[in-house]
Amino acid sequence: MQALLERNVILLGIATLITISIGTLVQLVPLYTMETTIEKVDGMRPYTPLELTGRSIYVREGCYLCHSQMIRPFRDEVERYGHYSLAAESMYDHPFQWGSKRTGPDLARVGGKYSNDWHVAHLMDPRSVVPESIMPGYSFLATREVTGDKLAAELKTLRVVGVPYTDDQIENTKADLMAQANPEMGDAEALEARYPKIGLGDFDGDPSKVTEMDALVAYLQMMGTLVDTTSYQVGPDGW
Ligand code: HEC
Repeated sequence: MQALLERNVILLGIATLITISIGTLVQLVPLYTMETTIEKVDGMRPYTPLELTGRSIYVREGCYLCHSQMIRPFRDEVERYGHYSLAAESMYDHPFQWGSKRTGPDLARVGGKYSNDWHVAHLMDPRSVVPESIMPGYSFLATREVTGDKLAAELKTLRVVGVPYTDDQIENTKADLMAQANPEMGDAEALEARYPKIGLGDFDGDPSKVTEMDALVAYLQMMGTLVDTTSYQVGPDGW
């Protein structure tokens, strides 16, 4: 049999194909029988309009070129950044921001690590708070106003690809955008009913307008805060 296969290139080709097909099937078929390959976790919700705007600014400015958003399940990473990232934590990210380059630290759990004021100072001029930083400044974000005019369409588009925005959330996109950055002016209660676990307030220290700085800081402050990771086992020996 072996001699026959080795001397006949067509037979060898067919046999190779069959072998590879079996390997492929063994890997793929189980995945198709699962409803989802992402383990369900409690706490995940779609981004609020303000956070989503901040996320778009993050993508636009190429923050992902220096920052990853995926804590890998290794001891050194978990000790530095916190619980490793769960697949479900990026399930509403289109496109995901895992990244592969870390000129700066991973940001997957940066939410709540610093105050809003720290983030604003850092984004305005990174060297004012971290003297040795090589991160560029983004002070122009503080003067660029966010209008949210096209945001409802963005929410609708995300719904098409599976983010469960409700009609209520889409209808109130603009009101929610303004209310999160300016809770006194808008209906913050309704916003909190639509989106649990949100940070409210004037993020950039300028209550007169909603700026790209408000949006980016709102986004940074929620990163990695939705899922209560204390209810998930960290590692085999509990690290
Ligand atoms: C050229 C690479 C580069 C780019 C682009 C960049 N950063 Fe950074 N970032 C760094 C470096 C290096 C640090 C560590 C020093 C420091 O804190 O400034 C850092 C630190 C940070 C921190 C603090 C993280 C922590 O845990 O201490 C945040 C938050 C941050 N960056 C957000 C951003 C955002 C948002 C953008 C896009 C608007 C961005 N960065 C773009 C390099 C970069």
